[in-house]
Amino acid sequence: MEIQMKKLASGFTLPALALGTWGMGGRHERMADYPDEAKDIAAIQKAYELGIRRFDTAQMYAEGYSEEILGKALHDVARADIFVTSKVSPEHLQYEGVIRSLEESLERLNMEYLDLYLIHKPNHEIPISETMKAFDALMTQGRIKNIGVSNFSVESLQEAQACSMHPIRLNQVHYNLLFREPVTKGLLAYCQQNDIFLEAWRPVQQGSLCQQGTKIVDDMAAKYGKTPAQIAINWLLGQDHVVTLFKSSDIAHVKENIGALGWSLEPDDAALLSHDFPIQLDRSNAVQLG
Ligand SMILES: NC(=O)c1ccc[n+]([C@@H]2O[C@H](COP(=O)([O-])OP(=O)(O)OC[C@H]3O[C@@H](n4cnc5c(N)ncnc54)[C@H](OP(=O)(O)O)[C@@H]3O)[C@@H](O)[C@H]2O)c1
Repeated sequence: MEIQMKKLASGFTLPALALGTWGMGGRHERMADYPDEAKDIAAIQKAYELGIRRFDTAQMYAEGYSEEILGKALHDVARADIFVTSKVSPEHLQYEGVIRSLEESLERLNMEYLDLYLIHKPNHEIPISETMKAFDALMTQGRIKNIGVSNFSVESLQEAQACSMHPIRLNQVHYNLLFREPVTKGLLAYCQQNDIFLEAWRPVQQGSLCQQGTKIVDDMAAKYGKTPAQIAINWLLGQDHVVTLFKSSDIAHVKENIGALGWSLEPDDAALLSHDFPIQLDRSNAVQLG
């Protein structure tokens, strides 16, 4: 299936839907004797086979093991055919820390460059100007093709952009039917006005938005002949400047989530979900960021 593309006014284009890797190989720590590597690899390869071309990982995930798993899964794929994002952890945002982190990520991924490199989370102990200088150097060297951030507020995003030579393409934040902070804090509007992608992490709230039992979603699922997960993902992708990424190590879930593409909620139904979804929280409760 051809995955829908989204384009900024600047011309920067991304596949709207990506596969994430948080949890593959462990969470914050590399899991010893991890039993699911083959399953993760099969899910990543199935996602590729079904048309997914954008993949997301991070230095922090399983202490780099998620990057290794992704690298193994994509080993035989032409590099130019995929778009790979990774992230530098907040404790490594010093100039040398960024340069070293990127090299280590590339080694684990077995790749020569990243398509997009993100600051995983702000660290107010380290001047953002120092971090952006390192990102600019990596851009100049061609080791990264685009820069972005994650979990940045409007203010942090403005500060980062002010000291970067290159445009910030994307801010990855917690956003789904349940968690609305990007809307309530004006971040989505800021990204739309400033031509930056807002990438919604945790689009199905780790599976809870895949369940039946919320009437408004169940009604919508029945009307469109889709599942709750597909409704949740389609609602995000119908929004201006919004892209998203889900994690799954289950081939059936990968197929299901890709089925969120290729059709659209009617604008009135999307608006209904925006206004009437019964629980709306305006602060991320993610204790551990993926
Ligand atoms: N920048 C950040 O701070 C940050 C934070 C969190 C996440 N992220 C990125 O965003 C990606 C997605 O977020 P996430 O992994 O936290 O949450 P998510 O994609 O909302 O949910 C993933 C979980 O939901 C399950 N799932 C997925 N599709 C399903 C379906 N159709 N039916 C039933 N269960 C389903 C998966 O289980 P199965 O594997 O069994 O399918 C997995 O346990 C991450 O992998 C990561 O790359 C970034």
